[in-house]
Amino acid sequence: MIEAVCESIPLPGGDVEVARPRDAESLLSEESFDHEEFLPYWAELWASGVALAHDVSMRSLRGKRTLELGCGLGLPSIAAARAGGRVVATDWSRDALRAAAANAERNGVAVETLLCSWAAPAPIVERRPWDLVLASDVLYERRNVDQLLAVLPRLVDERGLVLVADPGRPPAADFLDRAACDWHVVSRESRRVPRVSIHRLRRRV
Ligand SMILES: C[S@@+](CC[C@H](N)C(=O)[O-])C[C@H]1O[C@@H](n2cnc3c(N)ncnc32)[C@H](O)[C@@H]1O
Repeated sequence: MIEAVCESIPLPGGDVEVARPRDAESLLSEESFDHEEFLPYWAELWASGVALAHDVSMRSLRGKRTLELGCGLGLPSIAAARAGGRVVATDWSRDALRAAAANAERNGVAVETLLCSWAAPAPIVERRPWDLVLASDVLYERRNVDQLLAVLPRLVDERGLVLVADPGRPPAADFLDRAACDWHVVSRESRRVPRVSIHRLRRRV
């Protein structure tokens, strides 16, 4: 049995309760590391997730088809559902999806969860176009940059918006350089969380 802790995150629309495993490192297993160097990053609440949830909470998303990539514990998805979005939270970890679904329920919002890896994105590409795509702290590995640059144009059309929150991880600079060919990118510091930027991407027409 994994021991959980619950944290209350203050957001503009009111507090969100997020439960997570007390000790993320205890979830490490050699077997899952051997499979694509899988690490239990989903089990922590990252500063970028708080920053993105804060940004999303300031928006009106009434009925907007919203997709979160690498949702982890699901905080931005919960904020988006509270703002009126129809939200699908995705991750390649089943444990993350279980935690995100439980957190959505804990906060009384509807969030659909869907297992999907960026390397095999058919389940989310089939359901395009998305009005809004959310991703927080997903640019921590070089391989993530290639996978996300390949998948994002397949998820939104020229009306769609992508919001990426990042704490200045080195691969994010490469992502932003390369994204500038196909996307208008506007970046600004989070108003809520120091040292986290929110990058807004729209497809160039
Ligand atoms: C650093 S955590 C961030 C979690 C959450 N977005 C947050 O900000 O708290 C990265 C997340 O991306 C997920 N992830 C990593 N690589 C992935 C991939 N190739 N496909 C789908 N999800 C992935 C991880 O399981 C994890 O939940």
